[in-house]
Amino acid sequence: MERTLVIIKPGTLQRGLAGEIISRFEKRGLKLVAMKMKQLDQKILDVHYAHLKEKPFFPWLCDGMMAAPVILCCWEGFEAVKVVREMAGATNARKAVPGTIRGDYSMSAQENIVHTSDSLENAAIELDRFFSPEDYCDYPSPLNSYLYAPDEK
Ligand code: TYD
Repeated sequence: MERTLVIIKPGTLQRGLAGEIISRFEKRGLKLVAMKMKQLDQKILDVHYAHLKEKPFFPWLCDGMMAAPVILCCWEGFEAVKVVREMAGATNARKAVPGTIRGDYSMSAQENIVHTSDSLENAAIELDRFFSPEDYCDYPSPLNSYLYAPDEK
């Protein structure tokens, strides 16, 4: 099974939407295997958003990501990276399709509710950035036989 990172952004927490967003991933059938709250700082954002460092909006993006704690979640499931990414919707929430998280809860390209890993390779790198091996919880998933067919992987 794949694992992917979701960061519930500070604005989402401040708007009181964190539970609702977590619930959407749960209802889809993804399994929560690690979760913690963390106040991000400039040092970790310089690494996490290194691909955006030259963009004019980079300082505002970082301010937004440091405005309050984030909730870091690791979700597990077959093809979890793509499934979670598609659930989030387009980066600019005004272009996100209704039914996606951003399309349902946001009007902004920056204050867009969640970060989601964009590839399996980046998911592994990002999970290592925020979680230690002991943060992951192994527990039975008795509903798996209802969530998946025996040949699905
Ligand atoms: P990016 O990695 O391109 O998108 P995504 O979060 O969908 O993987 O951008 C990271 C964050 O940077 C994005 O979630 C919000 C912010 N951002 C802006 O504020 N304005 C922009 O025009 C873009 C492209 C991103």
